[in-house]
Amino acid sequence: MSTERPEETVREVTQAEAEKAGETQRPNGWVNPLRDQRDRRLPRIAGPSGLVIFGVTGDLSRKKLMPAVYDLANRGLLPPGFSLVGFARRDWADQDFAEVVHEAVREHSRTPFREEVWQQLAEGMRFIPGTFDDDEAFEQLRSSVEELNVTRGTGGNYAFYLSVPPKFFPQVVQQLKKHGLAKAAEGSWRRAVIEKPFGHDLESARELNAIVHDVFEPDQVFRIDHYLGKETVQNILALRFANQMYEPIWNRSYVDHVQITMAEDIGIGGRAGYYDGIGAARDVIQNHLLQLLAFTAMEEPIAFDAEALATEKLKVLKSAKLPEDLGVHTVRGQYAAGWQGGEKVVGYLEEEGIDPGSTTDTYAAIKMELDNRRWAGVPFYLRTGKRLARRVTEIAVVFQRAPHSPFDSTATEELGENAIVIRVQPDEGMTVRFGSKVPGTSMEIRDVTMDFAYGESFTESSPEAYERLILDVLLGDANLFPRPEEVEASWKILDPIEEFWATQGKPAQYAAGTWGPEEADEMLARDGRSWRRP
Ligand code: BG6
Repeated sequence: MSTERPEETVREVTQAEAEKAGETQRPNGWVNPLRDQRDRRLPRIAGPSGLVIFGVTGDLSRKKLMPAVYDLANRGLLPPGFSLVGFARRDWADQDFAEVVHEAVREHSRTPFREEVWQQLAEGMRFIPGTFDDDEAFEQLRSSVEELNVTRGTGGNYAFYLSVPPKFFPQVVQQLKKHGLAKAAEGSWRRAVIEKPFGHDLESARELNAIVHDVFEPDQVFRIDHYLGKETVQNILALRFANQMYEPIWNRSYVDHVQITMAEDIGIGGRAGYYDGIGAARDVIQNHLLQLLAFTAMEEPIAFDAEALATEKLKVLKSAKLPEDLGVHTVRGQYAAGWQGGEKVVGYLEEEGIDPGSTTDTYAAIKMELDNRRWAGVPFYLRTGKRLARRVTEIAVVFQRAPHSPFDSTATEELGENAIVIRVQPDEGMTVRFGSKVPGTSMEIRDVTMDFAYGESFTESSPEAYERLILDVLLGDANLFPRPEEVEASWKILDPIEEFWATQGKPAQYAAGTWGPEEADEMLARDGRSWRRP
């Protein structure tokens, strides 16, 4: 039986209500930041609740999760008694934990620091020292949760965020079950938030799903793919399904091909332990890029809800068809030493903690098609890499050439293909590229672009993906969380590629600071196409 009762925990506060409320201080001492920091896009406030983070000493927690919690509080989107509980193997008291969070917030939060918001949040912070096999620590967690129900009024509603390496998932969920934390009392909820990577291949993903679902009901589990929390990714749906002008041409009759790029300029930093043996394709194609593909290619969902979205995304993932010759239509690369931003950087094999004989991919490019009526025969090229020329994520829908031209061929010599480019980051927005007459007495046509930039059209800055997703978890809104079937379908796409790569020797090398291995350019050149250089 489901324990989800989101309607009881969601409080809708409209702009008008917030303004009418007008106070900065409520009788119970709650500071109401809505008064001066209003948010028109997310006028939803989580009901009484708490967040328990496992792996709270990790990078993700420090750089993203803790700052996101503060930013939500600062925007008035958390309940007054909100509680944050950290669990980790550190000899910390609550106060030490609060100091760590404080530092993370000062360094990484998006919104300005405000002492009164911080104080209120800090009062609800608790820390449980312990390892994942420590029964006593989980008992202490249970008492803490009960104490917070009383002192902070969390209503027994808790989300458990597993920001831990996947090998610990089974143990943590089992411990939550054993200590009675996974089941909620009548009228309250418990949820599990699971970070990627969700498995290493199809088989391990299935095993993990089975373990998690042995403890939690499907609607209690939220799998994070933080790309879905990005405004520009959600905008793919707005663009396609709230407008009339794109959808008629969004198909094989007009589209030549689609390029999805996620390029990073950073190397692997201090993440050798996680990254080596995983590689670029498992790290981001299996999740972020295939989700971008699903949003780009899916049919219109019958409603904007979790069920309908998952149904359409799953159809796309299941229709994926890989080329027969993976040796020609996929490329795996590894960065060698090079120059980046005026600095000399080491190659992957020289990075600290990396096995010098490692064949892990830091670059991956694949071609695939979708076996359905809308997209039959249209190639989708996906690529990602570390230490590339610049950080950029975009989806380029490239159109066929006009079927006929009344102009001399010289007039259109400089004309490229029409394209709609959804700029996911960092320069959030959209570009439409088309041909236009060059001013002058002769007919000469060249590419021009028309731009929409978030920064120019809207005054609000985009929330961080984790703000949106943590809030959604607290509200029980599952729209932006991939389902287990999607995770498994994505592994089904990637497994044959990884298996093929495992039989090959070393990945192609590319110098840091470039656009990847030459083999990737050759891969597209064989199809008569070329990668964009955004
Ligand atoms: C993570 C990957 O999921 O996404 C990292 O594990 C990658 O390797 C990161 O650097 C990129 O996220 P963003 O939001 O900076 O594009």
